[in-house]
Amino acid sequence: MPVCIVAPTEVVPGEKRVALVPEVVGRLVKSGLAVCVQAGAGEEAGVTDVDFVAAGARIVEKAKELYGGADLVLKVQPPTVAETKLLREGTVVVALMNASRSLDQVAAMRDRKVTGFALELVPRITRAQSMDALSSQATAAGYKAALIGAELSPRFLPMLTTAAGTIRPAKVLILGAGVAGLMAIATARRLGALVEAYDVRRAAGEQVRSLGAKFLELQINAEGAGGYARELTPEEKALESKMVSDAVSQADVVITTAAIPGRKSPVLVTKETVGRMKAGAVIIDLAAEGGGNCELTKPGETVVVQDVTIVGPLNLPSQTAFHASQMYARNLQAFLGLLLTKEGALVTDYSDEILAASLLVAGGSVRHKPTADLLAGAK
Ligand SMILES: NC(=O)c1ccc[n+]([C@@H]2O[C@H](COP(=O)([O-])OP(=O)(O)OC[C@H]3O[C@@H](n4cnc5c(N)ncnc54)[C@H](O)[C@@H]3O)[C@@H](O)[C@H]2O)c1
Repeated sequence: MPVCIVAPTEVVPGEKRVALVPEVVGRLVKSGLAVCVQAGAGEEAGVTDVDFVAAGARIVEKAKELYGGADLVLKVQPPTVAETKLLREGTVVVALMNASRSLDQVAAMRDRKVTGFALELVPRITRAQSMDALSSQATAAGYKAALIGAELSPRFLPMLTTAAGTIRPAKVLILGAGVAGLMAIATARRLGALVEAYDVRRAAGEQVRSLGAKFLELQINAEGAGGYARELTPEEKALESKMVSDAVSQADVVITTAAIPGRKSPVLVTKETVGRMKAGAVIIDLAAEGGGNCELTKPGETVVVQDVTIVGPLNLPSQTAFHASQMYARNLQAFLGLLLTKEGALVTDYSDEILAASLLVAGGSVRHKPTADLLAGAK
């Protein structure tokens, strides 16, 4: 019997993505696997049940039946406590678990003795690039952030030479030039804006310039372990604040993406800096989920302060659900290359570096030490 792979309808409010798309279902079915998709699971991503059936999936109406018959559950969001209760012991779940902010869900998986893999814990090594869901979803977020900026700004982004005279291009500033920031730069450039960007990692400068944007230089390098940013010293922070504040005050659209994994996002745009901004300027704070890079960001809300619109979106990838789902499903397919044997059975040996690093819960215990510590502290 091949394992039964299932993709449910996501139940978290505002989540429009789906873990599998017909293209990936087709490949899984072709390799002899059985795939069940919950009725309507792809609806909000622009994928119909008919598309899934054509790719070889079976449609299951009710969550209870779907989860109860599953060997392997593929999700976008971590399973809710109620969803986990529907699973059989030993079922494997792969999702973006967001473990430090989903402790109740992690505890439920532990108590139900399911095996949970967190895709965000996949190490960023070359072999795992095709499984890097953080990058694929950050790409979607960066793209959408630039479009929201263009939409909310009262200005044109490109330079225009018209019978009514010349229009100067808008200035877009990107703070944090990681995956999302680079995509925001590329998108704003395509719309014709003058783009500037800043990142504490000096290595980002070359990538920024290659996209046709100007890199703001601070004479420090804060590249830390694994290519991520380290925290800055107080002196470095003062220098950074002055440079960033001057650049922000000149910008028409500011997109902030600066995050430090596992920590609260650094504040790069203070209340005072917002006070220096032009009327009609827009800030899109992609770090809103981690508290925000702007002091005035309200996560999940759009606020207007002194004529500056500050957007604190949560789950931007969901707003480009079709392609965000497609990329995510491809990431999952690559991950399944490790999780399933050639014959289509689930592996039980998780010693592979990628599986070992992303294993969150198994056999009734939390295997990811930082999450286990958080759970122990939350008691
Ligand atoms: N497989 C791989 O090798 C792989 C995959 C993805 C990303 N990466 C690299 O990992 C790095 C981080 O990527 P990410 O997009 O996930 O990062 P992230 O989401 O953790 O952070 C976004 C950006 O914010 C920057 N930042 C942090 N604090 C800042 C501050 N105070 N001021 C300005 N900028 C600040 C970071 O340097 C980063 O570039 C990048 O170098 C990226 O190219 C490698």
